[in-house]
Amino acid sequence: MEFRKFDSDKDVTEFVLHNTELFEPDTQLTVSEIGDGNINFIYRVGQPGGDSVIVKQALPYVRIIGEGWPLSQDRVRIEAETLQYEGSHCPDLVPTVYHFDADLCAIVMEDIGQHENLRHALIARRRLPNLASDLGRFLADTLYHSSDLHLDSHAKKELVKSYINPDLCKITEELFFWDPYCDHERNSINPHLRPYAEQLWADDALKLEVYKLKRQFLCDAEALLHGDLHAGSVFASGSGTKVIDPEFAYVGPIGFDIGSILGNFLLNYAGQANLPGDLAERRDYQAWLLDSVETLWNTFAERFYIHMREKTQDPSFNNEIYRTWYLDKLFADTLGYAGTEMIRRTIGLAHVADIESIEDPQSRANSEKLALRIGCELIMARDQIIDVEALAQRIRRIS
Ligand SMILES: Nc1ncnc2c1ncn2[C@@H]1O[C@H](COP(=O)(O)OP(=O)(O)OP(=O)(O)O)[C@@H](O)[C@H]1O
Ligand SMILES: [Mg+2]
Repeated sequence: MEFRKFDSDKDVTEFVLHNTELFEPDTQLTVSEIGDGNINFIYRVGQPGGDSVIVKQALPYVRIIGEGWPLSQDRVRIEAETLQYEGSHCPDLVPTVYHFDADLCAIVMEDIGQHENLRHALIARRRLPNLASDLGRFLADTLYHSSDLHLDSHAKKELVKSYINPDLCKITEELFFWDPYCDHERNSINPHLRPYAEQLWADDALKLEVYKLKRQFLCDAEALLHGDLHAGSVFASGSGTKVIDPEFAYVGPIGFDIGSILGNFLLNYAGQANLPGDLAERRDYQAWLLDSVETLWNTFAERFYIHMREKTQDPSFNNEIYRTWYLDKLFADTLGYAGTEMIRRTIGLAHVADIESIEDPQSRANSEKLALRIGCELIMARDQIIDVEALAQRIRRIS
């Protein structure tokens, strides 16, 4: 069958009815398009007041731009296979994939709509008790089992091959590691922040460290990454956590995924300095965010360390000094990539509502300055910050 875009509600409902056994064949289903993503078409399909599923279809271009920004549809195969891979290790933490159709470039998956977008939850200062430990477990289990620590040499190379994702990687290479470090036309900069952006562009020592992180992003095929683990890719509720949208997945450096999500906790931390609401409440929430960063890293590190000690076939990991060196290296990479996430979300193309929703431009610039200060410090001091407690102390000192 040739690719075609779903062009009516009937088209979408028939796709669901023909390819899954979730509904009786003659069920009347309704379709609504969900418009808050940028790249693909997302439909909720279900019985009014009853069960529903999500259909995600990838067109050969970026949805909100159109044919002027072409993008390989292989991204949706990569997304479906990554969700299935992640689900094989953490079934409770990703939506179940019910069907993937390679011709129509479409996935039918579980509707996780009873959870809230994590970015909205953080802005509303909700405390989610399992969030940080769920994310630490997700990262430890998905990253360890797709790395050379776990896979034999041939299986690992097969993995690298099937997750070659050049179009999506190129977006990250440019938006994370290039645009924010020069006066690029794609950047979006609050006029009150402009002198600080100019200072950053002149900071050769910082740019040198970013070049090193970029080299590692390009060359270090360490484990299968989610590739776009920001707060909008996480959905959470009091009862659980779900990670969606791994269309940027490829085999890259482990610290990139951990750093991306930690950077998002810290962007919210910077936003809370000037978001509306009671000051004491915002400070308390900042303390909760730092606790969450500690829990996330500690959960990841403890689990990953146990996997290293007890599961790996690679005899190098019998050496305790090497195991510790490896984790320390992952921590330093994590801090570096958290820093690049914070900087690119402050002066690059795509900003975050945690800071962007601060209405007064001067107050917003104050949060943006804090995000830049933390981001630069994480990049420059990533080899000196010895553990996650020292990280929290340093962030408290900066702010
Ligand atoms: N499985 C799901 N269950 C419920 N809602 C979902 C699901 N998948 C996606 N959505 C909704 O659709 C929105 C966009 O989804 P997603 O981020 O996967 O799309 P995208 O086009 O890849 O967007 P982006 O621009 O973030 O890459 C999500 O923010 C969420 O509101
Ligand atoms: Mg996406």
